[in-house]
Amino acid sequence: MKNNGSSSALGIDVGTSRICLAKRNEGQFDFDSQLNAFVNIPYSPITESVLKKEKISHTARNGEIVVHGNEADKLAELLGVEMRRTMSRGMLNPSEPESLSMIREMIASLVGEPQGKTRIAFTVPAAPLGAGDSLTYHEETLKQVLSGMGYEAQPVNEGLAVVYAELEAQNFTGIGVSCGAGLCNVCLAYLAVPVISFSIPQAGDYIDASAASVTGERANRIRLIKEEAFHFNGRFAEKTHQVLGVYHDVLIRSLVEGMAQAFETAGKAARLSRPLPIMLSGGTTMPAGFRDRFEKIVRDQPFPVQISDVLLAPEPLHSAAKGALTAVLTNP
Ligand SMILES: Nc1ncnc2c1ncn2[C@@H]1O[C@H](COP(=O)(O)OP(=O)(O)OP(=O)(O)O)[C@@H](O)[C@H]1O
Ligand SMILES: [Mg+2]
Repeated sequence: MKNNGSSSALGIDVGTSRICLAKRNEGQFDFDSQLNAFVNIPYSPITESVLKKEKISHTARNGEIVVHGNEADKLAELLGVEMRRTMSRGMLNPSEPESLSMIREMIASLVGEPQGKTRIAFTVPAAPLGAGDSLTYHEETLKQVLSGMGYEAQPVNEGLAVVYAELEAQNFTGIGVSCGAGLCNVCLAYLAVPVISFSIPQAGDYIDASAASVTGERANRIRLIKEEAFHFNGRFAEKTHQVLGVYHDVLIRSLVEGMAQAFETAGKAARLSRPLPIMLSGGTTMPAGFRDRFEKIVRDQPFPVQISDVLLAPEPLHSAAKGALTAVLTNP
């Protein structure tokens, strides 16, 4: 297990697809992440010793080895099996019997043991638009996992974490958006106070699964194509890219509609006197042209809040973890 030296504050973004840790190192933010997935392979002493030598996170037990984190992806492709995932749609996956034990392993291998009193903020999603409180189990379980390791753990809303990470110059006033794998999370904050937050259940996994059902490819294959080569601009030479274009558009429209609806019905936002920036983050915002497409869709329709700029986080995969750490650092 790793040790984080003198860090007394950490931020961790526990995402459906990835778990990302942020720490401070000589005035800089440092990040480390692992794929939030695992794959079972048959046990053999030689495989186990190679995994140890290559420093690949794994657990050996009853005739099998469970490989978790970044290497699970490649092994699953190689063996032609689906990866198993601890989370689905932003929360611990109720139909995965090993979700709790595996997420504990993965979090432990990322954060290591606390050195003295160490505070850690972990991200939690907002409730889906129109749904009641379904987050308690997820949030309390993550808190238990981290407290059980000796950390002082506090939750932070994922959209608010994006505001903390990227909108300091705007006095933490604006709309933080995190488009991940399971969910898109949104938080409208005014002077660092969360005013409205919600999530929608469409994000990267939705794009992959929808494109897979149209093209007949496996969702994981679609994900690889999307991450390697998809972009919004220009003509689509390949069918898969055209299909991906369609579902990215569907996603952006649902997100913008959700924002319009949430800000409208809450009624509070309309009373804000200044135009607000929108800060986009999360892996799903990474294809070239995403920001432009989002801005076009948001500006082409009546929107209950005045928008100043539509911005893209400089490191979309790290924003939420950085914001979680900022939450700890700014609340002594
Ligand atoms: N370069 C890229 N181009 C396109 N999509 C990408 C890229 N990198 C990652 N993604 C997609 O981003 C999603 C993962 O983003 P992120 O790590 O922000 O999600 P997460 O925080 O794990 O999930 P969630 O917040 O929904 O729980 C996946 O769907 C992945 O395929
Ligand atoms: Mg996320």
